[in-house]
Amino acid sequence: MMRAPDVLQDEALRRISRAERLLMVASGKGGVGKSLISMALASTLSEMGRKVGLLDLDVHGPSIPQVFRSERLIKATKHGLEPLKIDGLELMSLGYIVRDSPVPLGGEDKMSLLKMMVALTDWSPLDYLVVDLPPGTGDEMILAIRALRRHPKSGTVLVTLPSRLSLSVVKRALDLLRDEGVRVLGIIENMAYIRCGGDIVRPFGSLDYSSLGADLLGSLPLDPAVEEALASGKPPHKASKEVMEAISAIASRIEVMM
Ligand SMILES: Nc1ncnc2c1ncn2[C@@H]1O[C@H](COP(=O)(O)OP(=O)(O)OP(=O)(O)O)[C@@H](O)[C@H]1O
Ligand SMILES: [Mg+2]
Repeated sequence: MMRAPDVLQDEALRRISRAERLLMVASGKGGVGKSLISMALASTLSEMGRKVGLLDLDVHGPSIPQVFRSERLIKATKHGLEPLKIDGLELMSLGYIVRDSPVPLGGEDKMSLLKMMVALTDWSPLDYLVVDLPPGTGDEMILAIRALRRHPKSGTVLVTLPSRLSLSVVKRALDLLRDEGVRVLGIIENMAYIRCGGDIVRPFGSLDYSSLGADLLGSLPLDPAVEEALASGKPPHKASKEVMEAISAIASRIEVMM
């Protein structure tokens, strides 16, 4: 039997194709700094003169509206949902729609909601659309990458802590992304080291990703100023010079690769 065409999928492709490049930020598990890195990369690319959109696909814990704060509501027009414009970025997050209310949707309903966010957001023509993917390797993440992977110029970075226990998580996430036909640009280590005076302490040690066939794009320090910035609604890259330098170097590498 022929499958009915998926109207939302086609609509999703049309919408994300407003951006010349699609940069997805993934992680094998939650809480490793995926949102921080999505926001910092988006801001840095914007400061490099690119037109950038940031799409938050985390349904249960959307962090972007806590940092890029706005009292304004997402407007629906006849063209779709209009992203908010803050700090030179175009931003879309469920958090701008439901604010702090929980979203107790499950199963198919949650999947429809994610698809609709991708299919209805009316981006301007962009150089980059950065996507903060749902955490982990579960249904939501798989649905999101299936909706996004048809973009002709897309790439994914994988965020991890450099702990040995994380290596198997990274491997699982890489296998999943590759099985789904997603181009992996490389790995970003977050909270990899702490600077104490003149010394650098690497609490997790160092990991070698070469056996996984993935490049390390860069390592970010654990900097209390980042946590402080995120908690007080300040874009992270403005808080920490060291994080900003690492992110700038990563953004330049991404530009070359994409
Ligand atoms: N390099 C860093 N230095 C200091 N704090 C950090 C750093 N990276 C992330 N954090 C803090 O760790 C917490 C988790 O980061 P973040 O929200 O970006 O992770 P996430 O992977 O998006 O999590 P989730 O799976 O919940 O979406 C945040 O409170 C953030 O401020
Ligand atoms: Mg997050």
